[in-house]
Amino acid sequence: MTVFRLVVVSAGLSKPSSTRLLADRLTESTVRQLSDGGRQIDVTVVELRDLATEIANNFVTGFPGAALRAAIEAVTGADAVIAVTPIFTASYSGLFKSFFDLVDHDALTGKPVLIAATGGTPRHSLALEHAVRPLFSYLRAVVVPTAVYAATDDWGAAGDGLTGGLPGRIDRAAGELAALLAGRGPAAPALPEQVVPFAEQLAALRA
Ligand SMILES: Cc1cc2nc3c(=O)[nH]c(=O)nc-3n(C[C@H](O)[C@H](O)[C@H](O)COP(=O)(O)O)c2cc1C
Repeated sequence: MTVFRLVVVSAGLSKPSSTRLLADRLTESTVRQLSDGGRQIDVTVVELRDLATEIANNFVTGFPGAALRAAIEAVTGADAVIAVTPIFTASYSGLFKSFFDLVDHDALTGKPVLIAATGGTPRHSLALEHAVRPLFSYLRAVVVPTAVYAATDDWGAAGDGLTGGLPGRIDRAAGELAALLAGRGPAAPALPEQVVPFAEQLAALRA
């Protein structure tokens, strides 16, 4: 049986962390929906809070420590990623951005990614659309249509009858990620990129 590698990146700073809680709920729903289809999932959680010092050191030394290297390798080798950040000053947190700055720019190409965020105010939900989604679009990830935002008041609040509230949004986004994964199967190892020198490309055009 094929096993999907799901990597969950959580950038919450508090303990306990609402960002981690949201990440866990999204993971549970994704695993449940994939398991219903008879698939096995191997989940790795990357807590960026624990890697904060190594991330800062990597910027000044140019090298990752062992734990950071393992986290970067996990994301690079994942079949799908769930990426959850707290909203700081109407955008992703600096720690979240710094981690993805250290991941190779080609590592997420074509990879299914579910984006989510927590915040204090519901008015900043679109930070997912104007900040987080463009980041992953730049990295050429395949971001699922539903991005999940959880403001403080969303936890425990009843749904509005249309979306099913936060649990409904979680299940919808997780379902989209599960469907993307199920439709593709586990990723094959990346082939080395073939770079055709520009002079050769020009010569081919002239021929
Ligand atoms: C420096 C800082 C800036 C913040 N800026 C925002 C903000 O612009 N909009 C918002 O909704 N919440 C903002 N918050 C609140 C956090 O997004 C919120 O507390 C978050 O859910 C905490 O996640 P955690 O429990 O995983 O640490 C800010 C919090 C901090 C510490």
